[in-house]
Amino acid sequence: MVRLVMTDSRFSLAGLDPNEDTVTGTGYQSSSGMLRQDVPHIRRIRHGIISLFSEQSIAPWREEVEEVADDLISKLPDGHQPPDLNKQYFEPLVVRAVALSAGITKEESDKLYDFSNKVLVRVETAEDRARICGAWRELYDYGSNLINRKLSDPDDRLLSKIFVQLKNTHLNDDQIVAASGTILAGFYTPFGILSVSAVELFRHPDVVEACQKESTLWERTIEELMRYKAHFNFFLPRVATEDVTLGDVKIHAGQVVLPSLHAAVNDPESFTYPNVFTTHRKQARCNIVFGAGPHFCPGAALSRQWLQVGLERLFTTLPGLRLTKQYSDLKWQPGSISMPKEVLVTWDKEHI
Ligand code: HEM
Repeated sequence: MVRLVMTDSRFSLAGLDPNEDTVTGTGYQSSSGMLRQDVPHIRRIRHGIISLFSEQSIAPWREEVEEVADDLISKLPDGHQPPDLNKQYFEPLVVRAVALSAGITKEESDKLYDFSNKVLVRVETAEDRARICGAWRELYDYGSNLINRKLSDPDDRLLSKIFVQLKNTHLNDDQIVAASGTILAGFYTPFGILSVSAVELFRHPDVVEACQKESTLWERTIEELMRYKAHFNFFLPRVATEDVTLGDVKIHAGQVVLPSLHAAVNDPESFTYPNVFTTHRKQARCNIVFGAGPHFCPGAALSRQWLQVGLERLFTTLPGLRLTKQYSDLKWQPGSISMPKEVLVTWDKEHI
């Protein structure tokens, strides 16, 4: 049902009252932002840029992401003890992976990460609206300077190429800035996914052991981690533009529907025994965690690359890696993904 709504053009994002999107803050972006467009406009925006995000296009940066991961892991014994993987590994890994893939400095990536945290937040009170709209505006100002710089001095990384393509779509400057803003904010979302995946792996040492023996298993393990726990818990609101009947449900024109990714990944018609964590599923990929239809996440391949590198390097470099406390003692914080506040770890240090 979730996929049906997301792929059916009778359900609109553009027609949604921004106040109805009280879930992720994306409804408060400019009306030219990507997550406020319907087909055919969103197809025109995405047409030139989607191939830039393909597995093939991003593959050349994998080794550099591995080097970043190895560098951060090598510093874990010297930093704060016991290390908090959130602060000392996952967060800096994503910030630096964005920097190298996007073609920006670490300082610029820190700044964009800060914006991302301010715009992609759960909306709880009326005052949140003004704050989030203000943060989007600041992000647009920052993005606008970045666009001018990358267009006048392009490199071979993502942002230069994206900006050139957006320019070629004959969007006006404000529309280019708004579309770029959606992309810039999205870059940092794998942080929480990494953190939740790691603590789930600590509960499944048999799976870690199997991946250590056979590294090709990481790919399907990460898909199952995203399906089982490490996905966004938000709804993806859409409004019906006409009366629609889906199965035996009648939805009237103007009604808002709230497709839930969490429901989709737990649908027994798509995944047998959905509440069981298993790396032996027939359908190894779990694309629905990245949405579906015209707004399917362009960052899916990048995210998969960073998750694979981030978890594989960590669990294969540090033998016996484990939490310093029980899983049940972890403190969780709410957000677009509910994630542990800190992930304190130790490992068998005599082996390295
Ligand atoms: C594991 C990490 C990620 C997950 C689970 C994820 C998930 C999603 C989902 C579910 C949507 C669809 C929203 C909707 O239809 O309402 C989406 C859209 C989007 N994502 Fe991601 N995302 C991730 C990482 C990224 C990254 C790394 C980028 C980097 C650029 C990114 C950029 C975007 C953009 C620009 C959109 C809007 C696309 C459009 O409107 O056409 N995401 N993402």
